[in-house]
Amino acid sequence: MSRVFIRGTSIRPSYPPSATRSHKGHFNAQLTLGVRVDSKYLGAEAVARLPGRPTARGARTHHLSDSSPVGREHMTQTLGLIGSGMIGGTLARFAVGAGWNVVVSNSRGPETLGELVAELGERAKAATPAEAAASGDLVVVSIPLFAYTQLPQAELAGKVVIDTLNYYPDRDGRLPELDSDELTSSELLQRHLTGARVVKAFNNITAPHLSSLARPSGAPDRSALPIAGDDAAAKKEAAALLDALGYDAVDIGDLTESWRSSPNTALYCLPYGGEAPSGLSPQELLRWFLETPGAPLPAHRVRQLADEAVRAPAGGALVD
Ligand SMILES: NC(=O)c1ccc[n+]([C@@H]2O[C@H](COP(=O)([O-])OP(=O)(O)OC[C@H]3O[C@@H](n4cnc5c(N)ncnc54)[C@H](OP(=O)(O)O)[C@@H]3O)[C@@H](O)[C@H]2O)c1
Repeated sequence: MSRVFIRGTSIRPSYPPSATRSHKGHFNAQLTLGVRVDSKYLGAEAVARLPGRPTARGARTHHLSDSSPVGREHMTQTLGLIGSGMIGGTLARFAVGAGWNVVVSNSRGPETLGELVAELGERAKAATPAEAAASGDLVVVSIPLFAYTQLPQAELAGKVVIDTLNYYPDRDGRLPELDSDELTSSELLQRHLTGARVVKAFNNITAPHLSSLARPSGAPDRSALPIAGDDAAAKKEAAALLDALGYDAVDIGDLTESWRSSPNTALYCLPYGGEAPSGLSPQELLRWFLETPGAPLPAHRVRQLADEAVRAPAGGALVD
């Protein structure tokens, strides 16, 4: 199985003067990454950050409030978000559109989230991660995996925690339990969050495709996303959240099975690009994936890809 590394080195961010050393490293890892391509998969959440991609904010989205079973039929719920970047910010936008209140948070403090809150409107407020955790009926954790030990354990105890995290050793450092396949990244998170009920979701689609493929419940071109978790009731709540935010859910098993949607599997990111034209070189395939708005991936196809998944070495590649 040949592997081709395509370097996405043409963008070098300038850092805000206030950026800390680790923060700089964090951005550097994300913005200089390239994309690994081979005949089986494109390890590609990274693609979302390369030149030519629409930003999640700019991508076309569908107003989902009319289709939201949660927002429509029940008391207004609150989604807490720890991490409000590409994935967290996109989910916050969808949640507000579906009639939820949101509490967004990040590592730098609520005062740095004014622009996002202003964009989201009166249903949104910014807080600390602990406050976002405490406020949320459900809580999305969407941070780099390296920061998982900083999550507020006490405030997350008893909560359904939606885990979007992926393992990228170049960004996250090497985690022996993951490298040895002793644990999946979601089991590692669950082990840390004692008392929380972790459900893996939203980890296998790039932020722009997450944004462009959301559809109201029942739409013929609706896509599905895999979910994995150990607690059946938590998975039901997660599936209701996905439904409210524009996606069907396919249960792929417990957290030990969550590798089936992780980097280096066929279900990871690439299928949401649609069917690639045949005969493309890896470089051309990458360019096509960068430009495609994505295509619906129905539940039966997600099920098939999960069932047929072959476990590859843990960890996606960020290439400098
Ligand atoms: N981007 C994608 O297309 C994609 C797709 C699927 C899954 N994922 C996975 O989802 C996770 C988030 O990815 P992303 O692309 O959304 O990242 P991102 O745009 O870099 O956003 C990360 C967010 O996490 C926050 N954060 C970092 N450390 C934190 C901490 N200790 N406590 C609270 N918040 C913290 C950051 O806040 P500051 O800015 O203040 O540091 C930022 O708001 C990652 O694990 C990634 O692998 C990404």
